[in-house]
Amino acid sequence: MSGNVRPESMKRINTPELAEAFINEQVAALRAQIGGKRVLLALSGGVDSSVVAALLIKAVGKQLVCVHVNHGLLRKGEPEQVIKVFRDELGAELIYVDAVDRFLDALAGVDDPEQKRKIIGKIFIDVFAEEAAKLEGIEFLGQGTIYPDILESDGVKSHHNVGGLPPELDFELVEPVKLLYKDEVRVVGKALGLPDNMVYRQPFPGPGLGVRCVGAITRDRLEAVRESDAILREEFANAGLAGKVWQYFTIVPDFKSTGITDGKRTYEWPVVIRAVNTVDAVTAEVAELDFALVQKIVKRITSEVNGVNRVLWDVTPKPSATIEWE
Ligand code: XMP
Repeated sequence: MSGNVRPESMKRINTPELAEAFINEQVAALRAQIGGKRVLLALSGGVDSSVVAALLIKAVGKQLVCVHVNHGLLRKGEPEQVIKVFRDELGAELIYVDAVDRFLDALAGVDDPEQKRKIIGKIFIDVFAEEAAKLEGIEFLGQGTIYPDILESDGVKSHHNVGGLPPELDFELVEPVKLLYKDEVRVVGKALGLPDNMVYRQPFPGPGLGVRCVGAITRDRLEAVRESDAILREEFANAGLAGKVWQYFTIVPDFKSTGITDGKRTYEWPVVIRAVNTVDAVTAEVAELDFALVQKIVKRITSEVNGVNRVLWDVTPKPSATIEWE
């Protein structure tokens, strides 16, 4: 797709038929652009990169090489789903990089949120560039840039929020969804046969669970974030709230409080639950949850998550709070 301005004549893609037409058009354009060359793509499993991957697989098959970097800050089951969908079901060439120790070792003892983001972003680029260097003949870099990214920035989506790309990743960009709005990307993803929980998933920040494990990340507290998040998502799905509440997740602060379990005193972390609705993430309202659902989540988290004895519900809108805690 050429040009960075959405033509006025471009129809809003909101039906499977319009999505099909877009897909056919893009497949032809991608084949023309890429020819017989190879394309590299950082595949996080988020909607945008997943849709770009599926389009590229359709267009150029094994000329696409996807790299999925596990930085240890992904949600429960995410790396497994990326492998299942892209390698097993769509037959993609997928390199899975387990960089968990590298990220968590570099983050040990770092409590400043912006410093944490910088470390995560830098190591992500380093790992991705190292993988790129091992591959022969890459000439293109796939990017999940979408139209709001172009409107809001310089048009290059910097994965995990670091500016620009280093020289080793200086390939020609392939950005097939760069003129689409998020809802259109979802319609296209659905038409490409991607699973609903990938297509309709809630926004997930680049630094992942790292900004929800408040302060210096420790492996045990990170595990408490991941397990409590999985419980929250499961209970929201059971209650029919998946896709209805804009963003919902858990946070584990770095302090402890006293509790009691089976007659014994405990001294453990709290889990904070956060569920918000918003249009543009600039302001946000707290989602009104059924209290029986909240109680069920509290019971499950305190009995199933190691090291947790208390659950708090953050009912603060944005402003004054941000959506994330860091
Ligand atoms: P806040 O916490 O600023 O978040 O109210 C607004 C939205 O942005 C997401 N967010 C991030 N996304 N990298 C991202 O890609 C980040 O560092 C980051 N920090 C916050 C947040 O999840 C919410 O959707």
